[in-house]
Amino acid sequence: METNKTFTMIKPDAVANGHIGAILDKITKSGFKIVALKYTALSAAKAGEFYAVHKERPFYGALVDFMSSGSIVAAILEKDNAVEDFRKLIGATDPTKAEAGTIRQLFAQSIEANAVHGSDSDENAQIEGSFFFSAFEKF
Ligand code: RTP
Ligand code: MG
Repeated sequence: METNKTFTMIKPDAVANGHIGAILDKITKSGFKIVALKYTALSAAKAGEFYAVHKERPFYGALVDFMSSGSIVAAILEKDNAVEDFRKLIGATDPTKAEAGTIRQLFAQSIEANAVHGSDSDENAQIEGSFFFSAFEKF
């Protein structure tokens, strides 16, 4: 299992608020190399599939609606210890609890519209990256 890759999405709130450039800048300046990048959108069905792990959670329906409400940016990132270091860079799920200088503290609107996704394990980074990108789209 690779330990140097993670997967991220810039979520619909951050795209709509014009933060794509600032977030990618922060990611690359923090030492992550972009190995795949795509501007796209999730249908409700695709968003539901992506977050299927949360199917039983009370916020699942709202999460699917939100994640399919507008364009997103998907990316695979490379760095030593990528998953853990990226979770540190994005900050807590709830932006009011996110540390100063983290992406969510800087750009998120709420616990749901929280600007970015970050994989929570090496295994999920692999699964999520392959959800969006074929072998021809990773460099
Ligand atoms: P993500 O998967 O998007 O990186 O976020 P996370 O690990 O920090 O949080 P997770 O527990 O995996 O939740 C996934 C996303 O669901 C929305 N959420 N809403 N209303 C709520 O209480 C609530 N809790 C979670 C957020 O968009 C969260 O990022
Ligand atoms: Mg998560």
